[in-house]
Amino acid sequence: MPIQLWFATPIYKATLEPDALGRVSAEIDQAIRTSADAFGTPWREPKLSTTFSYERDSNIITQQNMRQLADQIFRHTELFCKELRIDRFKMMEIENSWINVSKPSGFQFRHTHEPSMVSGVYYHKTSGDDGNIVFESPNPYFNAYDFPNNGAQFQKSVEYAPSVGSILLFPSWLAHYVDVNKTQEERISLSFNLKLLRDPVRGIAV
Ligand SMILES: [Fe+2]
Repeated sequence: MPIQLWFATPIYKATLEPDALGRVSAEIDQAIRTSADAFGTPWREPKLSTTFSYERDSNIITQQNMRQLADQIFRHTELFCKELRIDRFKMMEIENSWINVSKPSGFQFRHTHEPSMVSGVYYHKTSGDDGNIVFESPNPYFNAYDFPNNGAQFQKSVEYAPSVGSILLFPSWLAHYVDVNKTQEERISLSFNLKLLRDPVRGIAV
């Protein structure tokens, strides 16, 4: 094919298998119970978001020894890297991770997860209608030129509806935001940042 599509932006989405989902759900419920007192702590930039987060700078996965979730994150990140033919990294490490509780009317403004490499989100509790995550095209000229296209791979943004047990992975530099939670229920998700390591001697963080 004479056309080559450059400047691709990979976004990975998968859903945990039922048995894994059960184990991960139990683990997150336990972590929430254990750290219940910390909920209500405002997001680090409270003026930029109404989503509340548990210790944004910490690593709840390692602190709570959440091995089931970590295994799933590592497994899917391996698939993500394999699909992209990224094979020079031997190990991965969860740099930080935190729980988001989006109350009714909660949302998140546009942000990135730099300076990490790969970032992701896992949806623990959601009705599916409590706010899509929207990824913006990294092409800064998108609005400047009207190049004819079929829309499929030339969108200004792409959004994903949350669903229980789904995991999204994306480059940490990719800007995104979360729509307003218009339901009366809270959505609970867990976000994480990953670093891929070249050194095979170093171990996995969990
Ligand atoms: Fe984010």
